[in-house]
Amino acid sequence: MSRRLKFMAYFDELTQDRQKCPTGDLASVIANGMPGGHVMGDAERLWYYIIVATAGHDTTSFALSGGLEALLRSPDQLWAMRDEPALAANAAEEIIRWTTPVRHFMRYATRPTSVEGFDVAEGGRVLLCYPSANRDEEVFSDPDRFDIGRTDADRLLSFGYGTHFCLAAHVARREIRAIITRLADQLEHIEPAGPAEWVSAYFVSGVKHLPIRYRFT
Ligand code: HEM
Repeated sequence: MSRRLKFMAYFDELTQDRQKCPTGDLASVIANGMPGGHVMGDAERLWYYIIVATAGHDTTSFALSGGLEALLRSPDQLWAMRDEPALAANAAEEIIRWTTPVRHFMRYATRPTSVEGFDVAEGGRVLLCYPSANRDEEVFSDPDRFDIGRTDADRLLSFGYGTHFCLAAHVARREIRAIITRLADQLEHIEPAGPAEWVSAYFVSGVKHLPIRYRFT
């Protein structure tokens, strides 16, 4: 069965289940969504699921795993959030800057242009290298330092820029904020239980395994 047919079969089953018994989760919203008052077409619905399952999955999970890895190396920053929950919003920005889960996209010039003084011919390729942008020392002070209190964290470019700016940046920010707030509030103890393992990938990438020992209050 082709990958597309497998996706269709999987999500059709999910749709039927959530149409019969909505649970209030995101799949129920998609299964029962009536954009503009109209029932969604099958293809439209399928692509909503696919966007969430692809663009919306390993991006946020790599931000979280990498963010936790950074917090474990600097646990005082985690406990600072427990004492001052308002720090979580900036911490989420810093986690997304620090981890930069999407490593790059490519643009093709539709006409001759120049970027920062470099000439680009029509059809020329421009690599948008987000990790590099997020470590730009002209934008971020001490960019190689993970600091949830930094005042320039919101200048991050992890979500891209311009027309194709991430459609769900607000969802990603909220997910990360919600989870780190809960962690900071409920963790009594956390420590590494082995070395972190990184995915060897150059498109969407980050910490794949992060063994930890923890105790909730
Ligand atoms: C930390 C998490 C995330 C990061 C770092 C991230 C990053 C990006 C980047 C770099 C782009 C391309 C921007 C460009 O080409 O200029 C993008 C586009 C996109 N993202 Fe995200 N993303 C994240 C989370 C999500 C989530 C949770 C969803 C959906 C539930 C999502 C859906 C999309 C979609 C649909 C696009 C295409 C927008 C377009 O081409 O107009 N992303 N994202």
